[in-house]
Amino acid sequence: MLKQIVYIYLISLSAVCYCLENGLARTPPMGWLSWERFRCNTDCTNDPYNCISERLFQVMADLLVSEGYASAGYEYVNIDDCWLEKHRGPAGQLLSDHKRFPNGMKALSDYIHARGLKFGIYEDYGNYTCAGYPGIIGYEELDAHQFAAWNVDYVKLDGCYAQPYDMDRGYSEFGRYLNSTGKPMVYSCSWPVYQIYAGIQPNFSAIQSHCNLWRNYDDIQDSWASVENIIDYYGNNQDIIAPNAGPGHWNDPDMLIIGNFGLSYEQAKTQFAVWAILAAPLLMSVDLRTIRPEFKDILLNRKIIAVDQDPLGIQGRRIYKHKGIEIWSKPISPVYQIYYSYAIAFINRRTDGTPSDISVTLKELGLINSSGYRVEDLYENVDYGILYPHTKIKVKVNPSGVVMLKAETQYLKNV
Ligand SMILES: *[C@@H]1O[C@H](CO)[C@@H](O)[C@H](O)[C@H]1NC(C)=O
Ligand SMILES: *[C@@H]1O[C@H](CO)[C@@H](O)[C@H](O)[C@H]1NC(C)=O
Ligand SMILES: *[C@@H]1O[C@H](CO)[C@@H](O)[C@H](O)[C@H]1NC(C)=O
Ligand SMILES: *[C@@H]1O[C@H](CO)[C@@H](O)[C@H](O)[C@H]1NC(C)=O
Repeated sequence: MLKQIVYIYLISLSAVCYCLENGLARTPPMGWLSWERFRCNTDCTNDPYNCISERLFQVMADLLVSEGYASAGYEYVNIDDCWLEKHRGPAGQLLSDHKRFPNGMKALSDYIHARGLKFGIYEDYGNYTCAGYPGIIGYEELDAHQFAAWNVDYVKLDGCYAQPYDMDRGYSEFGRYLNSTGKPMVYSCSWPVYQIYAGIQPNFSAIQSHCNLWRNYDDIQDSWASVENIIDYYGNNQDIIAPNAGPGHWNDPDMLIIGNFGLSYEQAKTQFAVWAILAAPLLMSVDLRTIRPEFKDILLNRKIIAVDQDPLGIQGRRIYKHKGIEIWSKPISPVYQIYYSYAIAFINRRTDGTPSDISVTLKELGLINSSGYRVEDLYENVDYGILYPHTKIKVKVNPSGVVMLKAETQYLKNV
């Protein structure tokens, strides 16, 4: 069936990268981010449990720990837009909303750190944040030092109300100010996406040298259509996008929406599998108080988290796409010479209401070492034992669902 696979995995072992080296994000960052699920809800009078407030972040921090997310690797508690007062203070300083964050940002940061977690904040390289709060332009150095003083570990810098032509200068300058504080902070940029919208070809070597991660494409929304658009964008543009990822510098396809309203169980599994193949940041945006157990189990699947967090940091690719069936593949460790292990995701984008069979030999997937591969299913916990390049494997993939395998090279075990 899959004779038409043309396997073109280009793993460049000698790529030179003048990348940001602040010691952070050696694997894709994992944590929780408010935006997709909680938006800019500032109405704490009528909706005290869901408004953007210190209470919301405290509760999510508590649940990250008590529900086992933190021990699975989710460590950042990240605020998005709408935490600020509408005006700066008398000395030009940023002020958190005094009603919704009555104890201020340092107290919230301390609360989060006291639970062994890390604290992330949001700002915008423009006159305003996307929701209309003060942006950093004109106050870059002051704001970088303010974040350091609050013991911030992660800064997401959005790009609303800014000039995309000016971002090469502005994003790199703010990165230097963050560095000059001496406080290590993960730097998440929206630099390429705003440039792409404006018809500018982003300079990814510059972006890699200043940012730990960056957004390339649209904000995720609570729907399967949105997840599919992102999957297609990353597949269709992988030759430009994928080579830019590596330890310390990642493409960010946006948050995980697993456990919200828009995705079925199958679709949620597909989002998690593809994000792991993409070596994407795993930032959950979900209400951890009410998430259903089957969705929680997806987010806590340690075998798939390990694919995402693989130390090689190679972003995977779509290697096959035909009639609604896609195969995505990511080289992972262990590796010997040119023989990698792989995570493979079989995706069914078809909508006919019955599972689709996909059969393929390991060789067609690029798994060519005759010492063989130990193959296991990462969602179903099925171990297929040692398979060889000529072995044909057959998987049944549910509509809008995924089968995810790991194939571990056996060479080292046989020497
Ligand atoms: C930001 O504000 C300045 C000063 O008012 C203005 O000159 C500039 O055009 C604004 N930039 C954008 C992108 O709106
Ligand atoms: C600042 O940059 C230098 C040089 O890349 C790096 O070694 C250092 O870790 C950075 N410090 C911080 C706080 O980011
Ligand atoms: C991209 O940025 C790098 C350094 O950050 C610079 O050397 C190079 O000239 C830039 N490329 C273009 C096409 O502007
Ligand atoms: C399998 O990998 C090992 C290690 O690189 C190599 O020596 C051996 O020749 C490979 N086998 C084949 C058939 O390529």
